[in-house]
Formats: sequence, C-alpha cells, structure tokens
Amino acid sequence: MEVSAVRIDDERLPRHIAIVMDGNGRWAKKRFLPRTAGHRAGVTSVRKVIEHCLKRRIEALTLFAFSSENWRRPPQEVSLLMELFLATLERETEKLHENGVRLRVIGDRVAFSPALQEKIAAGERLTSENTHLNLTIAANYGGRWDILQATRALAEKVARGELCPEDIGPDAFKLQLTLADLPEPDLFIRTGGEQRISNFLLWQLAYTELYFTPALWPDFDDQSLDQALKDYASRQRRFGYTSEQVEDLVSENVCTKTSEFR
Ligand code: FPP
Repeated sequence: MEVSAVRIDDERLPRHIAIVMDGNGRWAKKRFLPRTAGHRAGVTSVRKVIEHCLKRRIEALTLFAFSSENWRRPPQEVSLLMELFLATLERETEKLHENGVRLRVIGDRVAFSPALQEKIAAGERLTSENTHLNLTIAANYGGRWDILQATRALAEKVARGELCPEDIGPDAFKLQLTLADLPEPDLFIRTGGEQRISNFLLWQLAYTELYFTPALWPDFDDQSLDQALKDYASRQRRFGYTSEQVEDLVSENVCTKTSEFR
C-alpha cells in the first residue's frame, strides 16, 4: 500500500502517539444501533490506525481501550468490551507479529478473566522481539494507578535499603512507570469532541502536544490521522526553551527530530 498523499517530513513526525478513542457510543446512537455496535466498529478504526502508523514508521502507538473507571458502565457493555478484547487478540495477534508489531498491555490486569490474561501474556511473549511498532493497549489503566504503582515500587526499594530517598528524581521515577522504555508521547489525540485527559498517561503527557477532534472514533481513519500529524508537524515544541533557542538547536543540527529537544 502506498503512503497517503499528505507529505510530512519524517523529522516532523511524532515518535510516539497516544490516543483516547472516544465516541463509539454516539456513533452507534446516531445509527439507532446498540452502543456495543459502536465498539465493534471502533476495532476497525484501531486496525486502520495501526496500519497507518506502520506505513508512517511511527515508533510507538498507545491506545486507551478501557480505563479503570470504565467498570462503572452497564455490566452488559463491560462484558462486550472484554469479549471484544479477547476476540481481537485471538484474531489479530498473529497478523501483528507478521508485521513486526510488539504488543504490550498496560494496566491492572488481575481484574481480567484468566483466559484474557493468558491471551495477553501469549501475545506479549510472541511479539516481544519485534521492533517495527510498539503497540501498547491501556486496559484497566489509569494514570493515577500508574503513578501509585511506581511510588510503591520505589518505597519498597527504600524499605529494602536499595535506594536512598535523595536519589529519587524524575529519571528514577520514570523507570518505574509502565512505559519506562518508550519515549514519552509526542502527540496525544482524543476523538469524540471532549477536551480532557481522563486519567490517561498523566506523568508521561507533561510535554505532549494535545490534539482534539470532533470525529467519532469509528469514523477516524488514516486521513484523520494524517490531519493530526500535519497539525503536529506545524507546531513548535519548546520544552521550556525560548523560540529562538529552539531555532538555533535546529539550525545547529543538535536535534534531528522535534521530539528530541527535551
Ligand atoms: C469510548 O467510547 C470507547 C471505549 C470506552 C472503548 C474503546 C474500545 C474500542 C475502540 C474497541 C476495543 C479495542 C481494542 C484495542 C480491542 P464511548 O463508549 O465512551 O463513546 P461515547 O462517548 O460516544 O458514549
């Protein structure tokens, strides 16, 4: 498949994209369908976006599939989402592997059925050596949960005498977070028109460019993603520097990608 017509210089592409996939329910409601039909249609958008990230050679894609607060939804909808997750893993893991995708799931997975936990572990094992795209699915995930589990891990190290409290800085802290080995997201996309983070990657989004679109997730496709990438490419990221300093860094070739200033 050819890369879409929208031209964006490679160095202006994000290394890591994080997406809140919102609007499945409204998409279904507009069609007089049950909410669950919206989630099923949402899986098609997930596939399209993964394919497009592979084509664009994006290093990492993190998708918010189920938040720690989503258990509050009607039990029927929660069950459907779990079934969909399991069925999608069963159907797609091999294809992800063939395409060089490394799959990971972040979140508190003990709440999932043993069958789902086993499928997740098998998918992670199978794809663990792949390097084309780091695909992370956040499921039963919350940014506050992530920060708390990191804090607990550090406290345990201190209690065991392996770490001094003075040595806890941003780098030591980041190492305990779930996405420790990935660059922090450069671009955050939320579909569905709401403009909030909703307890997604709270620590990791500190300097991320935010992009909100009214498009409902099942309508989001490769062209919508290109639109977001184009918007991102037009922004100047500063990470606390002045605009002039950033221009100097670019002209001196200190950084080749806009995501490398930090
Ligand atoms: C938000 O839309 C969407 C979700 C809570 C679930 C997202 C799940 C998928 C896209 C499918 C499964 C994904 C994988 C990776 C297998 P909403 O229901 O809040 O929509 P609304 O705001 O219009 O009600």
